[in-house]
Amino acid sequence: MVHTNILADALKSINNAEKRGKCQVLIRPCSEVIVRFLTVIMQHGYIGKFEIIDDHRAGKISVNLTGRLNKCGVISPSFDVQLKDLEEWQNNLLPCHQFGFIVLTI
Ligand SMILES: *[C@@H]1O[C@H](CO)[C@@H](O)[C@H](O)[C@H]1NC(C)=O
Repeated sequence: MVHTNILADALKSINNAEKRGKCQVLIRPCSEVIVRFLTVIMQHGYIGKFEIIDDHRAGKISVNLTGRLNKCGVISPSFDVQLKDLEEWQNNLLPCHQFGFIVLTI
């Protein structure tokens, strides 16, 4: 899925920048799913503010980093999860109990 690849690339850029201790990273192209994801992790305090830059092409996003994000990634390919199975997925995907977040898309 195109959306997933764009998101995966964006998250790779963020991971790399965080690992190098950078305080800002530029993501391109911009997409709605990236903006939504960034909004969620910003609200949880994992990144600082970000800014969408209209470059009259595919757009880019400047993200302020805070050093609080250990790692983020995309589960690919995407698949349907039932509510009753969510806890099991949480146990399988997250490094330990009650640590980290799974962000779902529709
Ligand atoms: C990101 O951080 C820089 C440096 O602290 C600041 O000047 C800039 O306004 C911040 N960007 C956003 C979108 O808040």
